[in-house]
Amino acid sequence: MTNNSTFQENRNPLPLARSLVLVGLMGAGKTTIGRRLASEIGVRFVDSDNEIVEAAACSIPDIFEVYGEAIFRDLEKRVLLRLLGEEPMVIATGGGAFMNADIRAGISGKALSIWLRADIEVLLDRVSRRNNRPLLATGDKRAILERLIQERDPVYALADMVVDNNLGHHEKVVEHIMELLRQRQAL
Ligand code: S3P
Repeated sequence: MTNNSTFQENRNPLPLARSLVLVGLMGAGKTTIGRRLASEIGVRFVDSDNEIVEAAACSIPDIFEVYGEAIFRDLEKRVLLRLLGEEPMVIATGGGAFMNADIRAGISGKALSIWLRADIEVLLDRVSRRNNRPLLATGDKRAILERLIQERDPVYALADMVVDNNLGHHEKVVEHIMELLRQRQAL
């Protein structure tokens, strides 16, 4: 287990058969919801961006600047395919990961993908709090996010489950996901 993994002690861990992979745009809340979900189920939580940073010993903005986006995408794919081969856990992906067909194929059958969806105003509000996203550093954040929504939403829509995360009531969102998982007999 790496330093980036967290395993919240849960005395009655639930029998999660397959990893849960959170996908969606920057600011959708994948890390926050993922961590809570993992704690509720009693499994490991991993943020794939953190794994990349640890593997490269370099921040994401620096990886983009020094090595370029293609190298970042390659690292992202390698990290995710490795995690998908490990025990069932909750994985928060970076916003671009699900665009990669190899990553989608790796998830398919082996894990359950959950598209965490949020309105543009909510995304903008969340991404404005930090300046750590190279794709948003090149111009107007709203315009970039609007373009990414157009490009990516049809692909995120391929996820196994779709869950809205607009209102900020994280426990409600986690409860809703738990309910959907039970309906699918994934727990
Ligand atoms: C990216 C999203 C980021 C990070 C990188 C690229 C994207 O992750 O992987 O900056 O392509 O949307 P978050 O979605 O966690 O911000």
